[in-house]
Amino acid sequence: MAEISIRKATYKDLEGIYTVMQNTGHAAFYGNKSFQEVRAELTAKLFKEGVTVLIALDGENIVGYSIFGPYLQYATKKNLALDVEINGKQVDIRAYACSLGTGVLETQRGQGIGLALRLAADSEAKHQGFKGMVTDVDFWNQPSKRNQYKAGFVQVTKILDRRRKSGINTLWVKTF
Ligand SMILES: CC(C)(COP(=O)(O)OP(=O)(O)OC[C@H]1O[C@@H](n2cnc3c(N)ncnc32)[C@H](O)[C@@H]1OP(=O)(O)O)[C@@H](O)C(=O)NCCC(=O)NCCS
Repeated sequence: MAEISIRKATYKDLEGIYTVMQNTGHAAFYGNKSFQEVRAELTAKLFKEGVTVLIALDGENIVGYSIFGPYLQYATKKNLALDVEINGKQVDIRAYACSLGTGVLETQRGQGIGLALRLAADSEAKHQGFKGMVTDVDFWNQPSKRNQYKAGFVQVTKILDRRRKSGINTLWVKTF
């Protein structure tokens, strides 16, 4: 891996984060508009209370990010289940954090930066008092699924009650 450092992002990093998002595909959630157009929306979403944004830097350049917030907030908004079944055991995940997106610049992938960001986010969430982490991964996203597995996540076998049945996502959970 290149000389990569990871730290919490500040408002000043927002433009750099958005540049990476345009490369990872996450900017599509903002209609692929220019940074100037989505600045207010991004600020409100990424720098609101409870949300943490970590960035990976190669020197001064932002090459990746990982964002998380409280699962309960996300679950309530999306009407998701608060219990999941893992290996036959029912687990209450309302005190868990929820990953809201991880991305690495295409040119910097395959060097372990994604995994380093995943682990840094887990460790920061644990430090903040969350009991675990939940991530929602598209079933075709092998690099991301690989990272959840290597970071110690297990795939949920059964999602109880209110979860939408999209059929295309996989849910991964790690208990701290
Ligand atoms: C997912 C993502 C963050 C991973 O970043 P990264 O820095 O390349 O991750 P790492 O180098 O730590 O690890 C990638 C793993 O996936 C594997 N991988 C990469 N491309 C792969 C592919 N096409 N098929 C299968 N595995 C693949 C790598 O071999 C590596 O696994 P290994 O360590 O066992 O060899 C990056 O691919 C990305 O930004 N994708 C677009 C956004 C996205 O999908 N984010 C995740 C969901 S929010």
